[in-house]
Amino acid sequence: VGFLCSTLLYNATVRLGKIKMIVFQTFKVTAVPDLFLTSVKLSHDATGAQYLHAARDDSNNLFSVQFRTTPMDSTGVPHILEHTVLCGSQRFPCRDPFFKMLNRSLSTFMNAFTASDYTMYPFSTQNAKDFQNLLSVYLDAVFFPCLRELDFCQEGWRLEHETPTDPSSRLMFKGVVFNEMKGVFSDNESLYAQHLQNKLLPDHTYAVVSGGAPLDIPDLTWEQLKHFHATHYHPSNARFFTYGDLPLEQHLQQIEKEALSKFERTEPNTAVPPQAHWDKPRVDHVTCRPDALAPDPMKQNTLCMSYLLGDITDTFEAFTLSLLSSLMISGPNSPFYKALIEPEIGSDFSSSVGFDGSTRQASFTIGLQGMAEDNTETVKHIIAQTIDDIVATGFEEEQIEALLHKIEIQMKHQSTSFGLALASYIASCWNHDGDPVQLLKISENVSRFQQCLKENPRYLQDKVQHYFKDNTHRLTLTMSPDERFLEKQAEAEEQKLQEKIQNLSDADHKDIYEKGLQLLAVQSTTQDASCLPALKVSDIEPIIPYTPVQLGTAGGVPVQCCEQPTNGMVYFRAMCNLNSLPEDLKIYVPLFCSVITKLGCGELDYRQQAQRIELKTGGMSVSPQIIPDTDQLDLYEQGIMLSSSCLERNLPDMFQLWSDIFNRLVFFQETEKEIFKSLCKCIDFILMHLHRPAGDLQRDGPGEIAELTDLTSVLRKLPRIKRHLLNPENMRCAVNATPQKMSDAAGEVERFMGNIAANRKERKPVRPTVVESVRSSSWIICESECVRTVPFSHADYASLCILARMMTAKFLHGEIREKGGAYGGGARMGGGGLFSFYSYRDPNSTQTLSAFRGGVEWARAGKFTQQDIDEAKLSVFSAVDAPVAPSDKGLGRFLNGITDEMKQRHRERLFAVTNKNLTDVAGRYLGVGQQTCGVAILGPENESIRKDPSWVVK
Ligand SMILES: *[C@@H]1O[C@H](CO)[C@@H](O)[C@H](O)[C@H]1NC(C)=O
Ligand SMILES: *[C@@H]1O[C@H](CO)[C@@H](O)[C@H](O)[C@H]1NC(C)=O
Ligand SMILES: *[C@@H]1O[C@H](CO)[C@@H](O)[C@H](O)[C@H]1NC(C)=O
Ligand SMILES: *[C@@H]1O[C@H](CO)[C@@H](O)[C@H](O)[C@H]1NC(C)=O
Ligand SMILES: [Zn+2]
Repeated sequence: VGFLCSTLLYNATVRLGKIKMIVFQTFKVTAVPDLFLTSVKLSHDATGAQYLHAARDDSNNLFSVQFRTTPMDSTGVPHILEHTVLCGSQRFPCRDPFFKMLNRSLSTFMNAFTASDYTMYPFSTQNAKDFQNLLSVYLDAVFFPCLRELDFCQEGWRLEHETPTDPSSRLMFKGVVFNEMKGVFSDNESLYAQHLQNKLLPDHTYAVVSGGAPLDIPDLTWEQLKHFHATHYHPSNARFFTYGDLPLEQHLQQIEKEALSKFERTEPNTAVPPQAHWDKPRVDHVTCRPDALAPDPMKQNTLCMSYLLGDITDTFEAFTLSLLSSLMISGPNSPFYKALIEPEIGSDFSSSVGFDGSTRQASFTIGLQGMAEDNTETVKHIIAQTIDDIVATGFEEEQIEALLHKIEIQMKHQSTSFGLALASYIASCWNHDGDPVQLLKISENVSRFQQCLKENPRYLQDKVQHYFKDNTHRLTLTMSPDERFLEKQAEAEEQKLQEKIQNLSDADHKDIYEKGLQLLAVQSTTQDASCLPALKVSDIEPIIPYTPVQLGTAGGVPVQCCEQPTNGMVYFRAMCNLNSLPEDLKIYVPLFCSVITKLGCGELDYRQQAQRIELKTGGMSVSPQIIPDTDQLDLYEQGIMLSSSCLERNLPDMFQLWSDIFNRLVFFQETEKEIFKSLCKCIDFILMHLHRPAGDLQRDGPGEIAELTDLTSVLRKLPRIKRHLLNPENMRCAVNATPQKMSDAAGEVERFMGNIAANRKERKPVRPTVVESVRSSSWIICESECVRTVPFSHADYASLCILARMMTAKFLHGEIREKGGAYGGGARMGGGGLFSFYSYRDPNSTQTLSAFRGGVEWARAGKFTQQDIDEAKLSVFSAVDAPVAPSDKGLGRFLNGITDEMKQRHRERLFAVTNKNLTDVAGRYLGVGQQTCGVAILGPENESIRKDPSWVVK
């Protein structure tokens, strides 16, 4: 148990004392040192609701509640219910609470999902008050929804006149889910996947369509929907998951008070029994809509073989099988890739291919899409032959090693939505009463897997024999296009419609017309959202959490160390300033960046080098950087940033790889010319993306780009660039690692600096360290007006940030998008001190330019309310406080030199912005003629612009 873990474990135990006295039984507290979390498994005494908490030092807290929803028909009842509960609840009767909460919350995620056998409602936020607000809204939505008849009609299905106000227009089926599912099944891949599951697991809930089959949806009644809710959305059928650093006790209290205390235990009949095993393989066929755009109309068939595997609650077996599946199909060296893809029989693997652990028993599918019908037998034969071959010869050791390494990194690398990833990862297994905690013990599974391989070298081959070669529960499903598919579908829908209509009485007709009008009326009234809880500016954390870093040096190079709960990963970055690089070489910097981690090193050619990088690191890359100065406008630092990550045990290898890149890079090899040729082709692409404020790296493009096609001259420049850039004299480094590993990591950096010391060379900067930049404007934007204002450290910077956000939400959005018809538009304040207005996919540039001016006048006239300012503040803080992954903590300080103290000062200024500050900065910086300003439009030639002599058309 690591340092962080033991702290959490202690806290959890202390809290548990009290919890037990309330209403929850603690089952088990487990430390999961791999992921630096402590899991607490509980069950609610009165209702039997299950609860899992993952206590972890991560502020992006997550809540999710999932219900086992196992429909026995294809009316789409779980899916329609998922939609309908969001149409209002007892305490919060307003429609669409998720969308409305966007404005009132600092949530980092809000959503709902319907799977084959569960329905899940997750959200995440970093703010404790916000968590409580969202929790109230979620609990009330799922446990106490209004489920009004009109909600059912709107979200599910209804008969309605084509024009609701005209009783003589024809009757038709309408409904959000009805239309959604028609869309889903017009996609042939979804259609195939649905059939495959229905036919491989035909005995219970997996035989039906949980989302709803369009023709079955109109068989669902409002009564059935309410009944499904009462039986399935019950605490006795619920699994709650919370994650993060907020105290468990408070979550439990709120959930008890607002939901669980109002229920008694039931015995939900929602379990999925195991599928009976077939004694003979089956064959089936389905049809789909032809693809008008198919390059070869004869090649529109899909064929897959699908195998039923073991129960997913056997977590180790499922883990093994998912690994086995990757070994069989992933990457150009896998047996099925070589056997099925290389001969180019079909266009690609079918999208259903691979391991599927989303049902109670897992399955594995292999096959092709985009193939000719003639090839059916060939493909079946190849599949059988490939399985025989794998049973005979197994896999290469290095392949297995690379895969295990990749899996470990994927699990350990923490994104900003780690909680959500965990919730989805455990959902299926837990849904069938498997142990979610077992699932989290990844390295235990990995070492057990390695042990199995050691004890039995034929371990994987035996599995292939058992699950594939000898498995009689196997489905061969083919799909081919049917010219009349759409026609038949329309006929079936029409027939269904006529059946419904025939049974209508006069009173029913009248009722349909009236309900149609009612729904229209309800939809067009603006809704009062004031019942929903809202965060206030005063609820926002006044002080940012401090990110401690240690600053030191290694071999004379500045090093920033940041201790973080990285799950046993180490992240390394180095910034190499390019201030000594001669002007003529600057244009090649992007190219240099994109190739240097892809070249051979020493004895290794580029393929071997790539394999070594894959086996030892989570990736190595180099990218150009342009960093605005925080104090002075128009000053930028230019450089390149090296980044890489690795597992703690591979720390020396990662730095060896960097040393080799610094010292032993091989620029000239026959094979590499190939890489270069292809890279040169995309050179303008690279350059285009390097635009940004400072123009230096892309100066006067076209002429020099043309020169790049002369390969030899390009190749000769790269070693010169290397001598300037990969030079310790111009470097600074940053390492993020766990506290336990930091001193090892620092030692490796020290050694690395020793290894590359010979590259140190004092060079005269060709320009001052911080280079002056030129132009403004961002060319990717259709239309942009940039005004030079103030740098980050200036007192007015905060007001300009709030102003940009408020102007966007309350003025520009309406003018440019709603009235002007552009896809989007607004204003933003950039780190380099540029206040920019933008629009994109914009049909009318002149109108938008006047909207920009109008926005400034609107702001100067102070035509906004305190409520508007507060919403803008909430929105700005939502961006300022966006979660940062442990791998990226401290990066702002490392790259931009923005310290926590500077951030805190900025934060205080944001809080303090007043109405007067906003009108003041709008006038002072954005008024006509006040500051340097540039306008650019990107797009087709434009009449009004061409006539206006003040425009330069390029
Ligand atoms: C946010 O709230 C304001 C009023 O408080 C409202 O006018 C606006 O439409 C809301 N925006 C969203 C996305 O709900
Ligand atoms: C199904 O979709 C895939 C991918 O969109 C396409 O390649 C294939 O040709 C389609 N097949 C048919 C029969 O439409
Ligand atoms: C653009 O907007 C202006 C002002 O509203 C209008 O006069 C002009 O006709 C519009 N042009 C186009 C192409 O829509
Ligand atoms: C707002 O205006 C007041 C008074 O003019 C000034 O003292 C303060 O610094 C301004 N605050 C910000 C954040 O610009
Ligand atoms: Zn839906």
